[in-house]
Amino acid sequence: MLTMNAPLTRRHALAAIAVSTGSLLTACKKSEEPVPGKSGDSQAAAGATIKVGEFASLTGKEATFGQSSHKGTLLAIEELNAAGGVLGRKFELITEDTQSKQGESASVVRKLVSRDKCIAILGEVASGRSMEAAPICQNAKVPMISPSSTNPKVTEVGDFVFRVCFIDPFQGTVMALFAKNTLKAKNVAVLTDAAAPYSVGLATFFKEKFIADGGKISVEQKFSSGDKDFKAQLTAIKAANPEAIFAPCYYTEAGLIAQQARQLGINLPIFGGDGWEAPELLTIGGKAMDGTFYSTHYSPEDKAEMVQTFVKKFKARWNNEVPDAMAALGYDSALVLADAIKRAGTTDGPKLRDALAVTKDFVGVTGKTTLDAKRNATKPAVIIEVKDGKFVYKETVNP
Ligand code: PHE
Repeated sequence: MLTMNAPLTRRHALAAIAVSTGSLLTACKKSEEPVPGKSGDSQAAAGATIKVGEFASLTGKEATFGQSSHKGTLLAIEELNAAGGVLGRKFELITEDTQSKQGESASVVRKLVSRDKCIAILGEVASGRSMEAAPICQNAKVPMISPSSTNPKVTEVGDFVFRVCFIDPFQGTVMALFAKNTLKAKNVAVLTDAAAPYSVGLATFFKEKFIADGGKISVEQKFSSGDKDFKAQLTAIKAANPEAIFAPCYYTEAGLIAQQARQLGINLPIFGGDGWEAPELLTIGGKAMDGTFYSTHYSPEDKAEMVQTFVKKFKARWNNEVPDAMAALGYDSALVLADAIKRAGTTDGPKLRDALAVTKDFVGVTGKTTLDAKRNATKPAVIIEVKDGKFVYKETVNP
């Protein structure tokens, strides 16, 4: 499913961890439907690699999400392998591209589970794509860990679906408090991507908290992922005279929204959630991004030793690139999986699931991961301000 110009292909991922040709060939045995509980069994032979599937948006509209997440995940897998792997076996990461497109997640994850017999699946970043693949993992009893999908519905799919990040009721609360206390706004306009479950969810949680605290939503406007012209919505927003605009969408649209808002003479603070996190936010939005803010999961400016060591290793591995939140969460998702395999003493699906479910105080780059009864993590959020064309760390908000 990968195109030739994808900077990181499945082949690269495999070559990078130097698996033997033999194990690659055995990965190609065909079976049409996932067999519950059987996926790990065929791999249990001593010395066989532990196959972990990854699905990520390596190309398309949210390409930086998948690229970043993949680089973090692969770094963790390489480090685990360099340290000898787990249960005396090395990891083999099989990565598939979802192309940021609806429908692709289900098809590539079906392949990772049925054909490649992966014992666990890591991904996706975008909530909608995680929700699309989760039922496949659930039915096959193959644990899935989303590094960074924040919509509550992702893990509600079933008891084989986990995540290592906070969820949007928290993120919505963080940004509602930010609007009230830092922006001192009493009237906020909301601009939602009606086609992205992430956006719809985060808008809802933001509104609930903002209104409960006495704020008013002056106007609400909607668009659809992939739209390029937001002038009609922004004109309606301008007419409602808000003090700030909350746009919980992904970075491509966020950049265009800020740019068109400034063109219409709207110089209000615009703010969003973690979906804004990408270097492209600045290339797309340019100068218009000054005076915008968003919440995310981590900052590379964090002085904690664990974070600084990770930043150094990541830059050394990936051409001096500074890791963003998706990279950090991708890294942590692989480490949490390895820890659970070690505790389970097996890669058998249901047993691995049980070990994952009791993950407690696992120390990673994005803080401690403890999975609750709903298979979600509770972690601090970070607020970033765009100032003079740069991302500037503003504050950390604890749960
Ligand atoms: N939380 C977003 C979602 O659920 C994805 C995301 C995570 C984007 C982290 C950027 C950084 O869709």
